[in-house]
Amino acid sequence: MWDERYKSEGYAYGTLPNDFLVEYKDSLPKGKILSLAEGEGRNAVFLAKQGYAVTAVDSSAVGLEKALDLASVANVSIECVHADLLDFDFGENCWDGVISIFCPLPSEVRKAVHKKVEIGLRAGGVFLTESYTPDQPKYGTGGGDCIDTMQSKASLIQEFPHLQFSHLAEVERRIIEGVYHTGLASVVQAIGYKKT
Ligand SMILES: C[S@@+](CC[C@H](N)C(=O)[O-])C[C@H]1O[C@@H](n2cnc3c(N)ncnc32)[C@H](O)[C@@H]1O
Repeated sequence: MWDERYKSEGYAYGTLPNDFLVEYKDSLPKGKILSLAEGEGRNAVFLAKQGYAVTAVDSSAVGLEKALDLASVANVSIECVHADLLDFDFGENCWDGVISIFCPLPSEVRKAVHKKVEIGLRAGGVFLTESYTPDQPKYGTGGGDCIDTMQSKASLIQEFPHLQFSHLAEVERRIIEGVYHTGLASVVQAIGYKKT
C-alpha cells in the first residue's frame, strides 16, 4: 500500500517537517537519531539540516528513494534502511534520539517495536513521537480508521516503562501535511528521556 501511495507524483505528506518535531527539536540531544517509518524523508531531512546524523527506516523502498532525493536537493546526507521495523536491529544503548511521527503499526507489532526503542536508546536519550489517537476516525482528516494502530497517553505510558516523560499530551490540533493529513485532528504527543 505505501509503495503505491508514494509512486504518485509529489510528496504524499509534503516536504515540510512535522510541526511538533519542529517545535520540540531542541529536546533531541545532538548526535545519532533513528527515524521510524520515515516515509519520504521530510522529517529526516529536517533533522539532518539541524546537524543530526539521521538513520531513516521504512518498509517502503519507493518512499526511501524519494527521501534520498529530498536529501540530495537539500544538500544533506541521511542513511536510509529499507526494513520492516520488526526485523530492524535497533542495537543497544546507541541512539541519542528516536523519532516516530505517524507510525501506524498494529498494536502487537508496536509494543515489540517500542521495547526495541527503549533498549536502543542510550541513557538520557530521547524518544519523540506524534501519533493519531483512537478518536481520530471521528475527525476523518487522515490516519484511516484502524483504531488498533492508534495511540494514547495510556498506551505510551504502558509501553515505555523506562522513559521519563517531559511532555505527554493528547491534543486537538490542525494538521495539514500533504494530501493525506488534512485538518483538525486528535493526536497524542510525547517526549520521553531514557532513565539513567
Ligand atoms: C503515515 S506514513 C508516515 C510517514 C512519515 N513518518 C511522515 O510523517 O511523513 C506511515 C509510514 O509507515 C511505514 N510503515 C508502516 N509499517 C511499517 C513497518 N512495519 N516497518 C517499517 N515501516 C512501516 C510506511 O511505509 C509509511 O512510510
